[in-house]
Amino acid sequence: MSKKVKIGMVGCGGIANAHLEGYQMLWEKGCDHFEIVALCDVVPARTAEFAEKVAAFQGSTPRCFSSVEELIAAKVVDGVDVCTLHADHHATAIRFLEAGVPVMVEKPMGVTVRAARRMLETARRTGVLLSVAENSRRGLGQRAMTWLFNENQQLGAPHSFAIEYVTGPKLPLEAPKEPEAVDQVNWRMDKLQAGGGWTYDGGVHLMDSLMVYFGPVETVYAQQRAFAPDTTLLKDGRRLVSEREDLCLATFTFRNGMVGTWNWSYALPGADFCRVAFYCERGYVLDSTAGGWTHTFGGGFIPSDAAVFLPDGTRKTGRDLELEYLLDLDEAGRERLFPHGVRRSVAQECHEFVDCIRLGRAPEVGPEEGLEGLAIAAAVYESAHCGQAVRVEDVRESRIDAYQRPVDQHWRLV
Ligand SMILES: NC(=O)c1ccc[n+]([C@@H]2O[C@H](COP(=O)([O-])OP(=O)(O)OC[C@H]3O[C@@H](n4cnc5c(N)ncnc54)[C@H](O)[C@@H]3O)[C@@H](O)[C@H]2O)c1
Repeated sequence: MSKKVKIGMVGCGGIANAHLEGYQMLWEKGCDHFEIVALCDVVPARTAEFAEKVAAFQGSTPRCFSSVEELIAAKVVDGVDVCTLHADHHATAIRFLEAGVPVMVEKPMGVTVRAARRMLETARRTGVLLSVAENSRRGLGQRAMTWLFNENQQLGAPHSFAIEYVTGPKLPLEAPKEPEAVDQVNWRMDKLQAGGGWTYDGGVHLMDSLMVYFGPVETVYAQQRAFAPDTTLLKDGRRLVSEREDLCLATFTFRNGMVGTWNWSYALPGADFCRVAFYCERGYVLDSTAGGWTHTFGGGFIPSDAAVFLPDGTRKTGRDLELEYLLDLDEAGRERLFPHGVRRSVAQECHEFVDCIRLGRAPEVGPEEGLEGLAIAAAVYESAHCGQAVRVEDVRESRIDAYQRPVDQHWRLV
C-alpha cells in the first residue's frame, strides 16, 4: 500500500486524546504515511473538538460521524482505532471486522472473556487484522525488564514477586462537560459496562506485563472487597451503587514455577505507598514509585526510583539498566521497538497499527495475547467470587464464569 493509510478513530474520550497526541507526534517526526480521515463518537461535541485538533497538525479535516453504522457505510477508512468503553469493544470491533476493516481496540480486549473470544473468532474467520492497544509492555522500563528477566540474566532467573500499592480514597469522578454524556463518565462504576473494577481496567496492564516478563500464568487465588462503594446519580434518575472492588489481594502461580502476590487498594484512609519487588536468583529489582517504572497499573510514564540490586552490594538505577538495554539493541531492534526514536508507548502502538495495515505486519498484541491478559484479570474476579483458586485456562475457556455470567447474559453472549 503506497498511498496514505486512512485511519478512523472511534470513541473520542479520555484515552483517545493520548492516541491523538500519539498520531500527532508521529506526524511531527515525519512519519506521515497515514491520515486521520474519520472521527466517530456518540457525543458530537467530542468529534468536533478532535476534528479541530487533527486539522491543526494534519492540514486536512476528518469527517465526523455519530454512529459506527454510518462510518462503515461511508467506506472511507482502511482501519479503525477503537477507544470506546469496555462493553462496546466487541460489538464495534466485530462490525468492522465483518466489513473487512482492520481494528485496533483498547484494552481490556472485551467486557468479558466470552466477548473477547467472539472477537478472536471473528478475526480468525474473516482474516482481518485485530490488534489490542496494550501499551504498557512498550514502555522503555518494561522493555528493559523484559530483557533483564529473559535475555540478559544478570540477576539470574526470576522466581517470585511481591507488589503492594495502596492509597486512600482519591479517584473522584469528573463531572461531565456535556449533559448528554452524563452516563458515560459513570460507565466505570457499572459492572455491565465495565466488566469489573480496576483489576480489569488498570490491572489488565499488569497482567500483560507479567505474561511478557514471566510467561503464562497458571493459577490465581484472590480476595476482593468493596469497603467504600461509590454511588452516582444517572441521568434517568437511578442511583447507581458501584459493585467494583476497592481492595484486591491476589496470588499468581506461573507455568515456569514462579509465584507472586499483587495487593492493592484505593480505600485505605491515610495510606499512600507503592512497593514493587521482583526477586531473582542473584538479586532483585525494587521500585517504590506509584506510576513509575514498574507501576502496577501501567508503567514507564513518569520518572521512577526503580533500582536493581546485586548480591555484591552493587546497585544500579533503573535508568542505568535502560541504557544497558538500549546499547544491547541493534539498529533494527531499536527502530522496530522505538520507531523514529519515539518513546511514548501509545504513539508506538499507533505506529504499529498503521504499519500492520500498510505492510501486512502482525501486531505484537494480537487477539490471542489480548484474550490471555484479559483471562488472567477475569481469573482474579472468578477466584474472588468462588473463594477458591482457579486455573486461568478454565477461565479462558469459560469453564469457570460465574462472576462474568450476568454480564454475558446482559450482552447476549451466552
Ligand atoms: N491504555 C491506557 O493506558 C488506557 C487509559 C485509559 C483508558 N483506556 C481504555 O480506553 C477505553 C476508553 O476509556 P476512556 O477512559 O477513554 O473512556 P471515555 O468514557 O473517556 O471515552 C469513551 C468514548 O467513547 C464514546 N462512545 C461510547 N460508545 C460509543 C459508540 N458506540 N460509538 C462511538 N463512540 C462511543 C464516548 O462518548 C466517549 O467519548 C477503555 O477500554 C479503557 O480501558 C486505556
